[in-house]
Amino acid sequence: MKRSIFAAVVASTLLSVSAYAETLSISCGAVGQELELCQQGVAAWEQETGHTVKIITTPNSTTERLALYQQLLAAGADDIDVFQIDVIWPGILGNHFIDLKPYSNGEESSHFPSIVSNNTVKDRLVAMPWFTDAGVLYYRSDLLEKYGEKAPKTWEALTATAEKIMKAEREAGNDKMWGFVWQGRAYEGLTCDALEWVASYNGGTIVDGKITINNDNAKQALTTAAGWVDTISPPGVLNYGEEEARGVFQTGNAVFMRNWPYAWSLGNSEDSPIKGKIGVVALPKGGEDGSHSGTLGGWQLAVSKYSKNPELAASLVMYLTSLEEQKRRAIVGSYNPTIESLYSDEEVLTAVPFFGSLYDTFANGTPRPSTATGAKYNQVSNAFWNATHSVLSGSQNADVALAKLQKDLKRISRGGRW
Ligand code: GLC
Repeated sequence: MKRSIFAAVVASTLLSVSAYAETLSISCGAVGQELELCQQGVAAWEQETGHTVKIITTPNSTTERLALYQQLLAAGADDIDVFQIDVIWPGILGNHFIDLKPYSNGEESSHFPSIVSNNTVKDRLVAMPWFTDAGVLYYRSDLLEKYGEKAPKTWEALTATAEKIMKAEREAGNDKMWGFVWQGRAYEGLTCDALEWVASYNGGTIVDGKITINNDNAKQALTTAAGWVDTISPPGVLNYGEEEARGVFQTGNAVFMRNWPYAWSLGNSEDSPIKGKIGVVALPKGGEDGSHSGTLGGWQLAVSKYSKNPELAASLVMYLTSLEEQKRRAIVGSYNPTIESLYSDEEVLTAVPFFGSLYDTFANGTPRPSTATGAKYNQVSNAFWNATHSVLSGSQNADVALAKLQKDLKRISRGGRW
């Protein structure tokens, strides 16, 4: 009798465990330490809940990642429960995600309101903020000191300092030395860099209500950047993404780099040749009358409408976007929190001092026009990065490229109606 009760208890426990333990899948990025940090966060959640999560890695290029997501979501595929999505995608992909408000317990109110509002589409919270991003300027503090130079405040000063140090270092025997590396491949990353150049010369943000890109300041910005190719920047920069630029800078072969904050932790890691030799400041202004500008980036977590287990998926999202996880990711990987209070956390500021000194860049960065252009944003960006790439590669001058871009954008918008 006793034995059969025992057996029954064991059997029912097993049954409830197997009915309870579910498997979810999440798509995570793999730029820098992203994948590792995602795995660790997911493992902690698995431990706490007894569920299992499969991690699906995605291409580094945000442009390729979007194409993959669009394919999966258009087919209504349930392969991925939780999607890591770019800050520019709520308008493009939002319809495929559930409203997280019923699961968030109001947690979103501790995140930057502008990001929460960016992630809210037709009153639905389609994604929880995970980390934010803004373009910043990295410099080699040891080299600037060696040559008696300061971190540049304008692009003109950056160009002069880069030329001087690159030349001197080459003469001293480092023939691999370059002045400035950045993201010049024809993809979303170039839109981010080019928007910074244009905004820094007070040339607007491509579409500011109406299409504004065909202006003299924007032309000056693109022409200035084209002047860097094959002078202070390697010709290969026209095919660089974030990781290619970091590769050159981190091996010690560039004076300056434009990148996102994640490059800080890696540059200062134990095995990095430039550990302790890196400074970070706001990106330069376009001339004395220009403005400092950093394009806003960042990633969110969303739950697919096609998930078989939306409630559990939402609980994973809430766990990964929580204060504890964001703090860990900030300290270990210099991923910017989206929770405002972490910008005054001593441990975070000790690990990444520029989260404090550049707070304004992160809180008030330059947004891409993804809200204004909605589902058309990727077409708009594609036209912008192609026009920019053609100026950088010398196949068109800025006058011709921007006049044509203005027309193309007008056509895409059907006369201003996005
Ligand atoms: C970073 C940003 C993202 C941007 C991408 C471009 O990942 O966070 O918003 O679209 O870079 O390469």
